[in-house]
Amino acid sequence: MPRQILVTSALPYANGAIHLGHLVEYIQTDIWVRFQKSQGHDCLYFCADDTHGTPIMIRARNEGITPEELVARIHREHVADFQDFLIGFDNYHSTHSAENRQLAEEIYNNLQQAGHIAVETVHQAYCNHDAMFLPDRFIRGTCPKCAAVDQYGDSCEHCSATYSPLELRDAFCALCGEHPVAKSSEHLFFQLGHFESFLKEWTRSGALQAEMANKLEEWFASGLKNWDISRDGPYFGFAIPGQSNKFFYVWLDAPIGYMASTLNYCQRTGRSFAEYWHPDSQAEVYHFIGKDILYFHTLFWPAMLKGAGYRTPTAVFAHGFLTVNGQKMSKSRGTFLNARTYLQHLDPEYLRYYYACKLSNRVDDLDLNLDDFVQRVNADMVGKVVNLASRTAGFLHKSFSGQLCADYPEDGGLYHAFVQTGDEIAQYYENREYAKAMRAIMALADQANRYIEEHAPWNLAKQGEMDALQAVCSVAINLFRVLMTYLAPVLPQLANKTCNLLNLANLHWQSCRQPLCGTTIQPFSHLLARIDSKQIDALLAAARPQEPTKEQQKAAAVVVAPPPPQPLPSSAATLPTINLDHFAQVDLRVARIVQAELVAGADKLLKLTLDLGSLGSRTVFAGIRAAYTPESLSGRLTVVVANLAPRKMKFGLSEGMVLAASHPNDPDKSALYLLSPDSGAEPGMRIQ
Ligand code: 2FM
Ligand code: ZN
Repeated sequence: MPRQILVTSALPYANGAIHLGHLVEYIQTDIWVRFQKSQGHDCLYFCADDTHGTPIMIRARNEGITPEELVARIHREHVADFQDFLIGFDNYHSTHSAENRQLAEEIYNNLQQAGHIAVETVHQAYCNHDAMFLPDRFIRGTCPKCAAVDQYGDSCEHCSATYSPLELRDAFCALCGEHPVAKSSEHLFFQLGHFESFLKEWTRSGALQAEMANKLEEWFASGLKNWDISRDGPYFGFAIPGQSNKFFYVWLDAPIGYMASTLNYCQRTGRSFAEYWHPDSQAEVYHFIGKDILYFHTLFWPAMLKGAGYRTPTAVFAHGFLTVNGQKMSKSRGTFLNARTYLQHLDPEYLRYYYACKLSNRVDDLDLNLDDFVQRVNADMVGKVVNLASRTAGFLHKSFSGQLCADYPEDGGLYHAFVQTGDEIAQYYENREYAKAMRAIMALADQANRYIEEHAPWNLAKQGEMDALQAVCSVAINLFRVLMTYLAPVLPQLANKTCNLLNLANLHWQSCRQPLCGTTIQPFSHLLARIDSKQIDALLAAARPQEPTKEQQKAAAVVVAPPPPQPLPSSAATLPTINLDHFAQVDLRVARIVQAELVAGADKLLKLTLDLGSLGSRTVFAGIRAAYTPESLSGRLTVVVANLAPRKMKFGLSEGMVLAASHPNDPDKSALYLLSPDSGAEPGMRIQ
């Protein structure tokens, strides 16, 4: 009996690129959805960009574009990344959409009418200069516990203390550097406590993994607090009906994006939205998420749905975080790997297979060990699976016009065993135990390879034992087909190539119960290459920072991008001052840009030829391509650190650093301002 299933992955924020950490979840979900489809179930996979909030508003402002333009651009990038990683969404929508506005308003109105919204006065940091309340991440200052300077408004990176922004000492606005003031405002709160008994029951209904249910018990024990769902303008989001200058907090409308994507899909395809979200819905609804957003998905979200009169999720599946070579992904270590950078060097199916080998249904973190990655992909995907076809298909073509035996040959019970194991493998997929599924599939692949070794078709060909040769190759191709059927949810591209090779319309799970007999196959063409470790070197080189890292910038703050003006912190011990001697060590000079050129293979860099007057000419590679065309720079004066030790870069030697300002909240440096002296300055002049 086909099941009706709706599946979602968490909506990625529309303020940055998809990276390999995100892909753990999208690959995990996509495998599950493809598996359900291969079982003949009516399974749909929905997602969207999560577009609202202050960081997106500020980033757009820094780039000189509207938030709508920013989210449209990021949407295009996300869609391309997902497509190229073979993530098969049935619909990819946006939270900044008419459907989401309609549903967010409706859910809010329902909650309000049912008495679940309260008004409370909150005191918050407010920047008079920017005329806005500051979210925690936009306030910096001195930690009230350990006196470390330049900490965020909610927590200290130095001593890990958490506090309220109003407790921060010597606080300053991260946008303009001014002191924020405390200001009060009326906010709307969702009364989560109303749903305590419902949530307790839902938690015990099997909707959660055991580890998560335990976590919820802790939250119940510490009490369910009201949740602030409103933000004062300016804010990029949906205006709250009946309120002036108040907007829904991004986390209110983000999960509603799951429904908005469903609605958009249903309107496009004529399907019924109510079949999925009506309280009597018989469909199953599953959310795949990371463990960091558990609270939102297991407390706020089911309670909101319940309170607004919708059905609640069947289950929420959480996974752990990605580490690379045993450590958190890090820009400075060059292990922060974006989806696009990966795709420029490696096949997406390598990563899909590797993640599948490591995924379980628990919340454990997953390590991408790059040596193990190369070894496993080459040994399993190429050595054990693809080789079954590449070692036998040629014989079938050469001597039998590509035709398989008319009757399935005696194979010692192998085919039967392969089909039998399918049920166990299906159960592993269903339970999201992909690592176990991959182990079971590779154990079958080992048996198939042993069969080929024992029957050595190359010897049969030499000895002219043609019937035996056709039989052995027919068995091998049939076993290959079963393996590829089991691997198809993980390797959809290789599965398509297999269909082409075997003249099949699809690799549906049940259809491989019967072997292929008497049919012909296409001539063998290349299926998958081994990974060369040089590709990994190239990937890491591309991910390595070519500009100073955040840490280096902090250390060299005086010459790179000074933090916004700070009031004097009260603890002199932690104040990062330098004296005049230190400053005098930095030789800043006026330079004229004689020539600016694009650098092949480095989309962030420009190669500058600088005239430093009496100091001669210099070549500098500068990460300013996003903000400047080469033509716009030619002839222009700028400021250069002239005594920086030359740095050997992949593209050549860089003999200095030009100075540019960027916003402290724009780590990608998408908006840059090159420094220039007033007119009249001459190349080589010292800045002091
Ligand atoms: O944590 C995040 O990246 C959020 N953008 C996830 C939102 S999931 C859903 F609730 F929309
Ligand atoms: Zn400000």
